[in-house]
Amino acid sequence: ASTPYHEQYRLQAHFSPKAHWTNDPNGMVYYKGTYHLFFQYYPDATIWGPMHWGHAVSKDMIHWKQLPIALYPDKLGYIFSGSVVVDENNTSGLGTKDKPAMVAIFTHHDPKGEKAGLSKYQNQSLAYSLDEGLTWKKYSGNPVLKNPGIKDFRDPKVFWYDKGNKWLMSLATKDRITFYSSPNLKNWKKESDFGQMLGAHGGVWECPDLFPLKLNGKEYWVLLVSINPGGPNKGSATQYFVGHFDGKTFTPTSTQTKWIDYGPDNYAGVTFGNTGNRKVFLGWMGNWLYANQVPTVKWRNAMTVPRELDLKLTAGDIYLTSNPVKELDKIVAKTIKVDAALLAKNNNIFSVIKQTPAQYVLEFNTQAVKDYSVMLSNATGEQLIIGYDAKNTRYYIDRTKAGQHGFSKQFATRSYVPRVSASLTSDMELIVDASSIELFADGGLSNLTGVFFPKKPYTRLSIVNNGMEIEGLELKPLRSIW
Ligand code: FRU
Repeated sequence: ASTPYHEQYRLQAHFSPKAHWTNDPNGMVYYKGTYHLFFQYYPDATIWGPMHWGHAVSKDMIHWKQLPIALYPDKLGYIFSGSVVVDENNTSGLGTKDKPAMVAIFTHHDPKGEKAGLSKYQNQSLAYSLDEGLTWKKYSGNPVLKNPGIKDFRDPKVFWYDKGNKWLMSLATKDRITFYSSPNLKNWKKESDFGQMLGAHGGVWECPDLFPLKLNGKEYWVLLVSINPGGPNKGSATQYFVGHFDGKTFTPTSTQTKWIDYGPDNYAGVTFGNTGNRKVFLGWMGNWLYANQVPTVKWRNAMTVPRELDLKLTAGDIYLTSNPVKELDKIVAKTIKVDAALLAKNNNIFSVIKQTPAQYVLEFNTQAVKDYSVMLSNATGEQLIIGYDAKNTRYYIDRTKAGQHGFSKQFATRSYVPRVSASLTSDMELIVDASSIELFADGGLSNLTGVFFPKKPYTRLSIVNNGMEIEGLELKPLRSIW
């Protein structure tokens, strides 16, 4: 079928725009009972172009309704990535105390300046909304933070830093993150630089996010940094640092490079603002290596499932865990326990449960001692394999034979994520949608996200367990959000 949201490959449990191109999620914020998701959007084609901010809203981060475009390019340039805050105390004077403004802080990218070979073509600007995000006005004094002469100067993520009674901005400045502060969102002062000597540097740093998270009652600060290229499985990926922040400087507690997701298709993710102690992350399920070429027709690219972030102490270091938000349960149609004895006789879960869901969650536990694999396949021989490689203690997603890949030489790959958990048992959760898979292993310590494009839907779901016990196998078909 080709009705909107039901075309071939259209994700049924994830946000994607009704039509045309998207990349980064932007301006994610919770306000008055509504989650807002803005997104890098080109409304005239299914390839990247002059960037706008598309807009969608949700009551639960799962069901989304797309609204009119929030921000259009203007004479200062395209509207690149950024964030939205609610200015409750009217520090900016753009709203009133009774009617606070929602303020978008974004990068104005001037394509003419870029073409002319100038260096100051990315600057930070403001727009504001006085009607809870429906309509937006650009601030007349734009840009508010001018480029000092660094080509890559973008993706402001702003939050209110209560302790210091000021706004704080994390900004990607080529090979580092620069922190700025402001009393009013309009005047910005540089506080410090972080990272030129730490983390991965195989590409440009982009889309930072700095936020606190507690571990055993103690506060830490997490800094997310997307990098393109230079990811652990090639192309785009998001690394993170755990450390301390004193209002001026970020100091990591460890020098190890860590990735929030090792998969090829989770990029430019940041967290929602205004969710209290809860931190929810959402990324773009794409990779700049081939995002403009993936074989969808009416729209291109989608977002990951929203993921709750937490900290966990493992093997002497502090790691982030990512797990699907509990709101995802709202679209679980039912929980089917798969009988191990039946499965031993007929190794196709779909025929054991007598249905072939198009989107579902698959969960099970194993002992992480032997190789195992889960295979999705169809009669034409296309197969997507997810598994554990015991010798090298790593999980993988193999999409080398998963379906279409001729659109890019970079696509048909096997991606790995090291296992960091030292636990004797391993829990696995897979979220499968029409053209995406998200793997959460060991309580969300090891994650992989990837897209795939079989010519025909997969009709077989099997497990090769090499004699190792697979316990608690459950399949949860998901209802469509559209
Ligand atoms: C990340 C990114 C950002 C930029 C935006 C442009 O994917 O390159 O750095 O603001 O995309 O669309």
